[in-house]
Amino acid sequence: MKSIKLGNSQFKASTVALGIMRMNVLSDADAVKVIETAHDAGINFIDSADIYGQGESENVFGRALKQSSLNREDFYIQSKGGIVVDPEKSHGSVVLGSRYDFSKQHLLDAVDGELQRMGVDYLDSFLLHRPDALMEPEEIVEAFDELQMSGKVRHFGVSNFNPGQVDFLQANLNQRLMINQLQFGIMHTGAIDFGIHTNMHDDDSIDHDGGMIEYSRLHNMTIQAWSPYQYGAFEGPFIDNPKFPELNDYLQELADKYGVTKNAIATAWIVRHPAHIQVILGSMNPQHIQESAAGADVELTKQEWYNVYFKAGHDLP
Ligand SMILES: NC(=O)c1ccc[n+]([C@@H]2O[C@H](COP(=O)([O-])OP(=O)(O)OC[C@H]3O[C@@H](n4cnc5c(N)ncnc54)[C@H](OP(=O)(O)O)[C@@H]3O)[C@@H](O)[C@H]2O)c1
Repeated sequence: MKSIKLGNSQFKASTVALGIMRMNVLSDADAVKVIETAHDAGINFIDSADIYGQGESENVFGRALKQSSLNREDFYIQSKGGIVVDPEKSHGSVVLGSRYDFSKQHLLDAVDGELQRMGVDYLDSFLLHRPDALMEPEEIVEAFDELQMSGKVRHFGVSNFNPGQVDFLQANLNQRLMINQLQFGIMHTGAIDFGIHTNMHDDDSIDHDGGMIEYSRLHNMTIQAWSPYQYGAFEGPFIDNPKFPELNDYLQELADKYGVTKNAIATAWIVRHPAHIQVILGSMNPQHIQESAAGADVELTKQEWYNVYFKAGHDLP
C-alpha cells in the first residue's frame, strides 16, 4: 500500500484509511475481522468521531482492538469532536446534531470520552468535526494546549472547513492544523468542478468550498476524502447502483484492464489527484475493504481520470 506524508509531519500514513462510523452495528467478532483485514491490506490509519453510533462505534472498536492480534501502535488513531448529538433524531448509524460546540469544556470532554471508549491513552490526531458558527478561538486554543500538554492528543486538524475558516483559526492556534476532512469522490466533485469551470455560467462553476484543494496544497495540509463511494450526502454507494449504468460500465472496463474491482478504481480515481488525498473508506465488509485498498496501487492515466469524470456526468467548458 502506498503511503502519504501527513501534513507537515514525518508520519507516513496509508493512502487508504478505515473510517469506523458504521462499526456500531457489528458484533465484536466481526469488528475484529474488519480491523485485522484492514491491517493486513496495509491500512494503518483509523478515523472516528465521538458521535458515530452515538459513541457505540468507538466502544466496539475499543473491544475489537483488545480482542484482535493487533496493538494500539499498529494504528494511527484519529477522532473528531465539536458536535452535540440530538438523540431524538438519531438512530443506528444515522446521527444528527442539535448544535455545534467548540467550547473548551465540550472539546476536553469529547476527547476524554473517546479515549475511554476506545481504551487508548492518546489520540494521534483530533479534528474539529464541522465549523461552529459561534466558535471563539480563545476557547479552542486553551483546549488544544491542554490536550497537547497532557499528552492526550498529538496532532490537530479540522473537517469540513473552508480556507477562510482555517486561516482564522490557525492565526490563533499554537499548533499547526495538519488535516482537513472533506467529502470527495467520483460522485462528489464540487471541490474540483468549479476550478475546471471558472467564470462559466453552469452549475459546475459554483464554488462550494472556497478552493480547499489548492489551499491545502499551498499550506501542506492533508485532505482526507470522506464517504468516497457515496453519491449525494449519504444517498448510498454508486458502485453497482443501477442509477449510474454508464459510470459502472466504465469502472468495470478499467477494473478489467488493471485486474482489480470497481471499488479499487473508485479509490484509484481519488488517489490519482496530485494533492495526495487520503481515502477514508467506510465499508464494514472485509472483502470490500481488501478490494478498495488495492486501488491505492493502481495509477490511472490522465485520460482515464478525465473519462471517469465525464461518465459521472461532467464535461469540459
Ligand atoms: N468528516 C465528516 O463530516 C464525515 C462524514 C461522514 C463520514 N466520515 C468518515 O468517512 C468514513 C467513510 O464514510 P462512508 O461509510 O459513508 O464511506 P463509503 O466508503 O463511501 O461508504 C461505505 C458504504 O458503502 C458500502 N459499499 C462500499 N462498497 C460497496 C459495494 N461494492 N457494493 C455495495 N455497497 C458498497 C458499504 O457497505 P459494506 O459495509 O457492505 O461494504 C458502506 O455501507 C466514515 O466511516 C467516517 O470515518 C466523515
